[in-house]
Amino acid sequence: MTRTKGCRVDKGLANTPNRPSITGANPITFQKPKRKDRGKQNCQKSYMNGFYDTNAEKFLQDTQNVDMSSLRDRFLAAVPKTYTGSSRILDAGTGSGRDARSFYLAGYETEAFDASPSMVRAATDFSDLPVRQMRFEDFEWEHSFEGIWACASLLHVARDDLSEVMRRLADHLVSAGALYASFKVGDGERQEAARHFTDMTEESFAALLDDCPSLRQVETWRTEDRRPDRKDDLWLNALMRKT
Ligand SMILES: C[S@@+](CC[C@H](N)C(=O)[O-])C[C@H]1O[C@@H](n2cnc3c(N)ncnc32)[C@H](O)[C@@H]1O
Repeated sequence: MTRTKGCRVDKGLANTPNRPSITGANPITFQKPKRKDRGKQNCQKSYMNGFYDTNAEKFLQDTQNVDMSSLRDRFLAAVPKTYTGSSRILDAGTGSGRDARSFYLAGYETEAFDASPSMVRAATDFSDLPVRQMRFEDFEWEHSFEGIWACASLLHVARDDLSEVMRRLADHLVSAGALYASFKVGDGERQEAARHFTDMTEESFAALLDDCPSLRQVETWRTEDRRPDRKDDLWLNALMRKT
């Protein structure tokens, strides 16, 4: 099988036995943005004032090896099986590619995207999967998925844009497909260290879903941050299903 790295690769990964091995993975694969990417970055609408590019090395170190298996397993239990082969999962706002890689190693057809050029490069290297550079606000894809995983990523979309973004993600789920999203627990929107956050409580999340008629809430639950130095941060996890 030919594997092509980089952005905008449309190849499916069905029936690919050539999975990356856990032992063979390079733990941190950050590279400084290449000159050709700087222009690309400037043409895009600002998506975080470049926070994830400026702080890529530290962010990757802090998040690449965090154990998210219990959350992934809860999501995977809700992802419908297909008759023809493995289910398709999209890692939306993949960051380091940690979860995309795990889904792929677990046998799922996995694709991923992120707005940050540095994260796209790091995730491509870490997962050995094609990762696209794309913003939630511009999201489009040429096929649907059985599951979409948006771990700690939709939280950076402005509240005014969130309903439309969620509806668009839902449009790319098969019937009964699963969507997972997580937000920091809190009320309203805030700016912190050059990042925009839309925080959620169970109530504000329910109100958001009222604007997304094709998504039904399966469950919400709270968890502590998995990073040892962030135990005080609370997360609201939400699992939804396409109706
Ligand atoms: C807190 S990190 C989470 C990364 C990864 N999902 C994880 O759980 O480790 C947020 C990610 O969302 C990406 N991101 C931020 N705004 C975005 C947007 N508007 N569209 C797509 N990705 C975005 C960032 O580049 C970053 O990789």
